[in-house]
Amino acid sequence: MGQKVKAAVFPVAGRGTRFLPATKASPKEMLPIVDKPLIQYAVEEAIAAGATKLVFVTGASKRAIEDHFDTDAELEGALIAGGKDDLLASIRGIVPKGVSCIYIRQGEPLGLGHAVLCAKPAVGNEPFFVHLADDLIAGEPGCLAQMAEQYEGHGGSVIAVETVPHENTSSYGIVAVDEGDNNRITQIVEKPAPENAPSNSAVVGRYLLAPEIWDKLENIGEGAGGEIQLTDGIADLLGESAVYAYSFDGVRYDCGSKLGYLQATVAYGLDHPDTGEAFREHLDEVLKNS
Ligand code: UTP
Repeated sequence: MGQKVKAAVFPVAGRGTRFLPATKASPKEMLPIVDKPLIQYAVEEAIAAGATKLVFVTGASKRAIEDHFDTDAELEGALIAGGKDDLLASIRGIVPKGVSCIYIRQGEPLGLGHAVLCAKPAVGNEPFFVHLADDLIAGEPGCLAQMAEQYEGHGGSVIAVETVPHENTSSYGIVAVDEGDNNRITQIVEKPAPENAPSNSAVVGRYLLAPEIWDKLENIGEGAGGEIQLTDGIADLLGESAVYAYSFDGVRYDCGSKLGYLQATVAYGLDHPDTGEAFREHLDEVLKNS
């Protein structure tokens, strides 16, 4: 039913204040988990879901992201000369052939809804993914691929959700759904206090949005925290176009927070072929002696 989704938007213009001073001069999306920056995990997940047009909405200090996805002839030359074929492949394969990268500047960090709207000229009148790289999701297939499959079944828009402890609702967009209608969202509220939250079902950083969202984002004002909120645009969409909540299969790490970042590092470090075994022994030792 739904068409193939070709465009993926990566809003990377936030300030990343929760991770200062690490994010003072370098974007949080460049923080590495073992040997890859968060934004590379994001790009790989989007490409695996069929995206061929990657739109990065960037802000101050985001040059490192553009450089990461650009070819570095000098580095490639040095790796070739040194016979380091594995490393060469690891940097050459970052953006496969047939995939294009577009960078758009968000002049001021006015909010996630505003950042997404900045991508409109590059995406156009078609459905698109939004991926927040600091929400790292380990899953196979990846979360966006799972959402694309849902979308192919019923069209509309799809938003990834996860159950959170009731006392944490004020950190998330929270949804109410109609379980009898494929979990179609009936209400969405940005960061409600627990006593006002319509459920414990929280929006996480993966969206598949129909192009009708553009008109909504163009017409909303400031919301929670004085920011232009994506959640408010989605709330306006609910009346006219179906938006479904999707409980993804996978484990999410909030890498915009220090604890979530450390948890992801441990999980991916244990799973990595180069580090897994030795890291497990090391952790056992550390825990034994702590
Ligand atoms: P966050 O709420 O995590 O905000 O944004 P932040 O500024 O990045 O981080 P903290 O809270 O200060 O530590 C969610 C996502 O939306 C992007 C961010 O880059 C992040 O991926 N964003 C947010 C923008 O691109 N522009 C904005 O104006 C706001």
